[in-house]
Amino acid sequence: MKLIHLTDTHLTTPGRTLYGIDPLARLKAAIDHIHIQHADAELCVITGDLTHWGEAAAYDSLRETLRALPLPVLPIIGNHDDRSRFRSAFPEVPTDESGFVQWTQDTSVGRFILLDTVIGDAAQGRKSAGYFDAGRVDWLCARLDAAQAEGVPVFLFMHHPPFGVGIAAFDEINLVADDALAFGALLRQYRHIRHLFFGHIHRPISGSWHGIPFSTLPATAHQSGLDFLSGTDLFTHEAPGYGVVLITPEQVTVHISDFTYRGPQIDPASERLQG
Ligand SMILES: [Fe+2]
Repeated sequence: MKLIHLTDTHLTTPGRTLYGIDPLARLKAAIDHIHIQHADAELCVITGDLTHWGEAAAYDSLRETLRALPLPVLPIIGNHDDRSRFRSAFPEVPTDESGFVQWTQDTSVGRFILLDTVIGDAAQGRKSAGYFDAGRVDWLCARLDAAQAEGVPVFLFMHHPPFGVGIAAFDEINLVADDALAFGALLRQYRHIRHLFFGHIHRPISGSWHGIPFSTLPATAHQSGLDFLSGTDLFTHEAPGYGVVLITPEQVTVHISDFTYRGPQIDPASERLQG
């Protein structure tokens, strides 16, 4: 299976730039690139921060733009999103019985479980950190139990990582501490989780956590600087990317494609001849 992983598109209202970048132009460039290179992909997952300010017009723009993708798209929300406006623009995306944008999707390689880590109570205002309260833990527990009973491998998708990544500015806004502990305690009980995909960080990172391999990748929009010293989140114009994930029963391989690269492509054979 070939899976396309997009994250942190941060769409604004069309034409409005963000930190010196046009997020809509970036998303369109990514889609054009996917169209040429990866029309054979089975699915595309977008792991949240679909929009930057959550305007209805930004979701309308996202919906219209995604029409050009030649494969099914599974979008989940991040801390920059507005759940109710997202649901208005994407009414076909499933939600759980509590209204969270989380569901399961069976694919050719196993079961995708897509999670909503955005704070549940809108009255508490916009929060950058992630939340996964007891109700959502119960929901996930039931889905993991079911998949385990059926012998189906599971792939998890969420916006916030449930752990720190060693960058101080981001380690303050992953899943809040108690929720991260509960999430980790739950996942440690299972052996059929093959990979955890997330967004939020705007950087390429991979590793493992409690024995579960994980990966995240550059945003299609702005990036975060790799700064271990300042404790301040500084955005950069480093290369964007999307993930090309190849999944077989034995292996998960994650490539990151810089769809904006326009530099030379050098044939090493001709280089040798020239030398
Ligand atoms: Fe983001």
